[in-house]
Amino acid sequence: MCGIVGYLGKRNAKEVLFEGLRRLEYRGYDSAGLCVVSPSGELSVVRVVGNLDAMEKTLESFDTHGTVGIGHTRWATHGAPSKENAHPHTDCKGEIAIVHNGIIENFVQLKAELEERGHVFSSETDTEVLAHLIEENYSEDLGEALRKSLERVEGSFAVATVHKDSPGTIAAARRDSPLVLGFGDGEWFLASSVPAFLPSTRKVVFLEHNDVVVIDSTGCSITDLDGAEVRREVVEVDWSLDSAEKGGYKDFMLKEIYEQPQAVAETLRDKFDNKKEVIVEDLRMTREEALELRRIVVVACGTSYHAGLLGKYLFERWAALPVEVEIASEFRYRNLVVTSDDLVVAISQSGETADTLAGIREARRLGACVVAVVNVVGSQMTRESDGIIYTHAGPEIGVAATKTFTTQIVCMILLSLYLGRLRGTVTDAEYHAIVDELEVIPKKMEKVLGSSGEVSKCAEKYYKCDDFLFLGRGVGYPIAMEGALKLKEISYIHAEGYPAGEMKHGPIALLDADVPVVAIATMDSVYDKMINNIEEVKARGAPVLAIASEGDGEIVKICNDVLWVPETNEMLYPLLTVIHLQQLAYQVAKKRGCNVDQPRNLAKTVTVE
Ligand code: AGP
Repeated sequence: MCGIVGYLGKRNAKEVLFEGLRRLEYRGYDSAGLCVVSPSGELSVVRVVGNLDAMEKTLESFDTHGTVGIGHTRWATHGAPSKENAHPHTDCKGEIAIVHNGIIENFVQLKAELEERGHVFSSETDTEVLAHLIEENYSEDLGEALRKSLERVEGSFAVATVHKDSPGTIAAARRDSPLVLGFGDGEWFLASSVPAFLPSTRKVVFLEHNDVVVIDSTGCSITDLDGAEVRREVVEVDWSLDSAEKGGYKDFMLKEIYEQPQAVAETLRDKFDNKKEVIVEDLRMTREEALELRRIVVVACGTSYHAGLLGKYLFERWAALPVEVEIASEFRYRNLVVTSDDLVVAISQSGETADTLAGIREARRLGACVVAVVNVVGSQMTRESDGIIYTHAGPEIGVAATKTFTTQIVCMILLSLYLGRLRGTVTDAEYHAIVDELEVIPKKMEKVLGSSGEVSKCAEKYYKCDDFLFLGRGVGYPIAMEGALKLKEISYIHAEGYPAGEMKHGPIALLDADVPVVAIATMDSVYDKMINNIEEVKARGAPVLAIASEGDGEIVKICNDVLWVPETNEMLYPLLTVIHLQQLAYQVAKKRGCNVDQPRNLAKTVTVE
């Protein structure tokens, strides 16, 4: 939800900033801008409507050679995508430039006050109030001006600012929205996330809430909002540069779909000891504590919520615990009955999603232990939870979650097995069968990826349809939900994911020959029930595309198309079936000419409510 960058060093800032923004474009792409500061203090600002391709063209004639600057790629919250609302924003005199990710909640009141004092605004954004506040508070010390201005601000922010009278300085700060500081050789970087400067350095500081950082050619200092120095650990991130680039694939989404076997293997690495006992290091729960647990509550949004829905089946089966799965935006505004007997599992790729984060805070306030299942190392949720399970999927740039979903499923499997072992609720036979099957699951995922040609044929057949229905039962139901979400978010086709048994209570009325039904019908305990549901669909004339287990001779007789997956344990099928649905959504979207990495109206990380 907006990406910001900052650079101070010896290189041409315009180029470094633009490269950084390219790597953050997944965070927003409706407008963009940057400001380069010349050594004499001239601020050169460029702002464009549209994505970074539009900016690239404009930059060809943007003749600056300054080595200090800030940049922004926007996902609009306050004010439509327009040149006026694009960042950086400036004050009345054009002496300050500022970029911002987050929301200044009291901006209406601040704006009114500032206007009364004679400030003239040129945008509809909340951000611009900060430029005017800094203008009022500035007297030689940019860091101090930023600190004083932030005292007045309510809401979330990651900001970076420059001033014409401090040409060799960038001041930046964060609260809730992420901000990372990167250390190069005689150069410093600021960014909303690490991939922005990965080609230049892996040495980073994940700035904390209310940290203010001031960078100049002598180095950087970090303080709190009162100006007291704070120390932050410099850590070395191990993300490879390849993982943040397309590496020969047409789109990040496609690359990330293909990375899934490796990502799953990585998430499974070192999770079993030499006796094949599952290890979930950060949970450090004793047998007694595990036995005292009364309930699991999963909190998440979007695709992560679907991983949570799947988790319900796994926790109930192996850990024998009641489970509630909550959409985070609904969880936070209720009279919650959460207690210290509950384990709250928060799932999030980004570790920043505002609603999930708020859910974590509320659950902890009520005394529950919170474990976060997160992909982004050092993200806010990792700091605000009692335990962390990393998904180890590497950077996911495509807006549609793919490899982070399958690795989230792996974390659900690991956590439920771990609790099941502690509680003695999973049988030895089932436990070892699952552990053995997990060893071969990445190979089976590769096999599924090998049938993209078949998926492409199905996409060709159905890509002009206006509506799709995805059906599943048991663990196939969350996968049906996920398949529908993937299709709608990147191809803009209306799709619904439904529990197959529920279809006859309403959605069956939608069916006719123009509504393809995608049915998850693998060989599992609800297979026969699924076949009945497929028959009901056929009787209404709708074409059926089944995702089925290899060797199923019956299903080909009743379905129009079948995409196969290798046989596996019932509870592990989602790791295979979802790949076909991701590929289907991808192929359909491409055939419809959609931008799969940057679907309209969306942003990868939703840091606003
Ligand atoms: C998935 O394809 C979506 N882009 C979206 O639903 C996403 O899963 C959701 O916004 C949650 O994000 P998080 O995992 O970073 O919390």
